[in-house]
Amino acid sequence: HDFVIIAVDGGAASGKSSTSRLVAERLNLMHVDTGSHYRAVTYALMLDGVPSTDENAVAERLQTLPLDTVVEGGSARIALGGGIPTAEQLRSEAVNNAVSLYAAVPAVRQFLFDYQRFQAELARVNGFAGLIMEGRDIGSVIFPDATLRVFLEADSATRAQRRAAEGENDAIEARDKIDSSRKTAPLTCPEGAFRIDNSSLSLDQVVDLIESRVKNCE
Ligand code: C5P
Repeated sequence: HDFVIIAVDGGAASGKSSTSRLVAERLNLMHVDTGSHYRAVTYALMLDGVPSTDENAVAERLQTLPLDTVVEGGSARIALGGGIPTAEQLRSEAVNNAVSLYAAVPAVRQFLFDYQRFQAELARVNGFAGLIMEGRDIGSVIFPDATLRVFLEADSATRAQRRAAEGENDAIEARDKIDSSRKTAPLTCPEGAFRIDNSSLSLDQVVDLIESRVKNCE
């Protein structure tokens, strides 16, 4: 492969972000966290008082929502009209509690589909060797044609520890439940994906596994 695409899916606190960042660094891939896309859209819609229950209003507001991308270091960040939303804005309790509700709205997923597919072009023109994208439906919906699709999971004790470290407790359980049971693009391990339980593996071990699997794909 002259251009590699790695899709990484998994639930909240499954270790997707730290794993994806390190793989990106080692293989010179552009890293994209699609959770931040859903968080940014949620933040913008809530700021405008558009409820997730009103799909028409959501679809209408999205038509005029300007999306942009800023490539910084090894990551591509989503920018809205006012620039890159801050971590405080994207990870507030209000957004934690509402993001899965907005992410279940088909118009929201439709809106982000082209944007996320386009990230591969951005990675190319920015000189990366490929793209690693993390989320819930990357291997199933966004890049079913990826070079490698990874599904990360961990046992409940390990997830509980990570949840505590991330300081988000109830919302994580609730989000996983909504994300797994929604009709459009539910969180699931896509068939043929490389399933890794990272409960008793170090970050480096997980990254080594992914790296050697990618090399086998080439
Ligand atoms: O990855 P993170 O926990 O930041 O994602 C926040 C939320 O965004 C998820 O709980 C899910 O509702 C939504 N999401 C999604 N599809 C993706 C990535 C995130 O529905 N590909």
